[in-house]
Amino acid sequence: MPKDKTVYFCSSCGYESAKWMGQCPGCKEWNTFKEAPSDKGSKVRTSIKRGIESGAIVSVSSIETKKEERIKTNISELDRVLGGGIVWGSLTLIGGDPGIGKSTLLLQVCKSLADSNYEVLYVSGEESKEQIKLRADRIGKFKDNVRLYCETNLDDIAQVIEEKKPDVVVIDSIQTMYMDEVQSAPGSVSQVREATALLMKLAKGLGVSIFIVGHVTKDGNVAGPKMLEHMVDTVLYFEGERHDSYRVLRGVKNRFGSTNEIGVFEMCNSGLSEVGNPSEVLLSGRPTDASGCVVSCSMEGTRPIFIEIQALVTPTNFGIPRRQSTGVDYNRVNLLMAVLEKKIGLPFGNCDAYVNVTGGMKVSEPAVDMGLVIAIMSSFHNKVVSEDTVAFGEVGLSGEVRNVSQVEARVKEAVKLGFKKCYLPASAKKSVKDVKDIELIYVENIRDIRL
Ligand code: TYD
Ligand code: MG
Repeated sequence: MPKDKTVYFCSSCGYESAKWMGQCPGCKEWNTFKEAPSDKGSKVRTSIKRGIESGAIVSVSSIETKKEERIKTNISELDRVLGGGIVWGSLTLIGGDPGIGKSTLLLQVCKSLADSNYEVLYVSGEESKEQIKLRADRIGKFKDNVRLYCETNLDDIAQVIEEKKPDVVVIDSIQTMYMDEVQSAPGSVSQVREATALLMKLAKGLGVSIFIVGHVTKDGNVAGPKMLEHMVDTVLYFEGERHDSYRVLRGVKNRFGSTNEIGVFEMCNSGLSEVGNPSEVLLSGRPTDASGCVVSCSMEGTRPIFIEIQALVTPTNFGIPRRQSTGVDYNRVNLLMAVLEKKIGLPFGNCDAYVNVTGGMKVSEPAVDMGLVIAIMSSFHNKVVSEDTVAFGEVGLSGEVRNVSQVEARVKEAVKLGFKKCYLPASAKKSVKDVKDIELIYVENIRDIRL
């Protein structure tokens, strides 16, 4: 008799290992390894025979395409991130921290779709019917075509989907689902992988659009194998600070649209509400006469988003200066401070520096470099930058300010929001035409910035 083999897997991210380990190499969590029977050699993959028909070989030119139709959710922030609505038969993964509002968002999607007379099935493996009803009551009145199914056995769920053929299915969450054929525990790599494969086949085979909720690990990736993200059509991340009411939905992968778009929501008493003009919200309640604050502009897809950057530079009390950043890349801040030190001679060697993007936004576009530089300079010199100033441009290692994309769109939006002064790259001169009501200050090198 061969001995039953067991493996160890991380209960946080699903990393599999032949031996027990204290720290998971995958997600760096401690003490998360659990023993589970190995499912090597089980006939899982051949046992799944639902959905998509394995087709014959055809030539590309002979394939007839229907016009890509999309289901509008009527939540425009979500529709935009999805690339114009839900594609029929697509599989979308939504990841995010616990309590950020994934279930709330998807329940609202269900309500909105039901209001447009689509058949929706909400499958929950995490909460009871009563709990979901409590949440639904906060959101509003639901029509009868939103069906609720509390179940974790995916074979049963698949059967229900095949019988009822709803238009849209929500699976909350993939980590709680299990299949009988797979021996390991729910949430393990094999379970998550096979469950997703089955859902993929159902989606493609029946033309049902499926949303799946995925838990995230400590460092913010969807828990389980990276393969999960490869398998699905669209990956969205729902992020934001817990104590802040604003939430950002970000596309990370999208087979049917761009991944640059973001959707902004606010968590209210009656669920999530859309924030149509995030800049206005992010900039509200700004200090008017504080040094170290400046507004910068980051393009998120087609929309320019204005954010406030705050810097605080203070003399250090310890040997090693402290540097901290929230909302922007820490290394980018260090790099820009090194450029400032070398090119303008600001002595940061004995200064602590804290940089913060307000409103819980995370920005990664290099165009905010100039905003960071001006905020740091302003705090260092203790000079106030007037509140109607906006600054954008990429800063290079020799202090030069480089051009960024869509300058005109940014400037026009700045005018619309009432800004009076704009620092922008000198090389952008050509691309800005007939803008009124704003003073444009073209900067070639950060040496030229006069606060
Ligand atoms: P939830 O959707 O359960 O989060 P997830 O599924 O991502 O874990 O979000 C729940 C949080 O949202 C909870 O902290 C309560 C809050 N909330 C509101 O503030 N207003 C509301 O109307 C609802 C439904 C939830
Ligand atoms: Mg939830």
